[in-house]
Amino acid sequence: METVKFSQMKHGDREDYELLRDRDVEYAGKVGDRLLESLSQLEEGFSGFKVTRLDHSLQTATRAWWDGADADWVVAALLHDVGDLHAPYNHDEYAALVLRPFLREQCVWTVEVHADFQKVYYAEKLGEDPNVRDRYRGNPYFNDCVEFCARWDQASFDPTYDYLPLEFFRPLVRQVFARRANDPAVQQPGVRMPLIDAKAAAARKHH
Ligand SMILES: [Fe+2]
Ligand SMILES: [Fe+2]
Repeated sequence: METVKFSQMKHGDREDYELLRDRDVEYAGKVGDRLLESLSQLEEGFSGFKVTRLDHSLQTATRAWWDGADADWVVAALLHDVGDLHAPYNHDEYAALVLRPFLREQCVWTVEVHADFQKVYYAEKLGEDPNVRDRYRGNPYFNDCVEFCARWDQASFDPTYDYLPLEFFRPLVRQVFARRANDPAVQQPGVRMPLIDAKAAAARKHH
């Protein structure tokens, strides 16, 4: 494989840096596949739940899919916990950082704060504040995150739920990560799409 001529960055010339720029674009194009690879590693390790973290991720995405949610929502649902692998104490921020260049702002924000919103389901049982989500009141996406947690995230720890396999979601993930990074037409600041689309849901059920 062709490489640069330099061993220290300060010695590189234009040709070297053009070569690297092209390779970077090629490498970035496979980020969707690498994320799915990471997700499949969530199969390992004991979490204490009745399902693995991979099962949980697939269940969350499957619920989004059957609700008729759009590609941004389904991919957000699938990858919302991918940060567990390397950032167990701020997995929400980690996932948001990864998703930010390629997803609608609404979905990225939801992923970024979902852990605080999930506390309403359990924090009180540990003597902690279940209402930390209140600090986000007034945010235009507040109710979207409430719904994300209620319908998809907190419900997806069910060993009896029949969910779609990782490979089902691969084309959708590839499509999303093939978008132009940081494109305002993708990030659509301020735009809110519903989590549930009855028409899309019905069409999916008939296939
Ligand atoms: Fe989470
Ligand atoms: Fe989750």
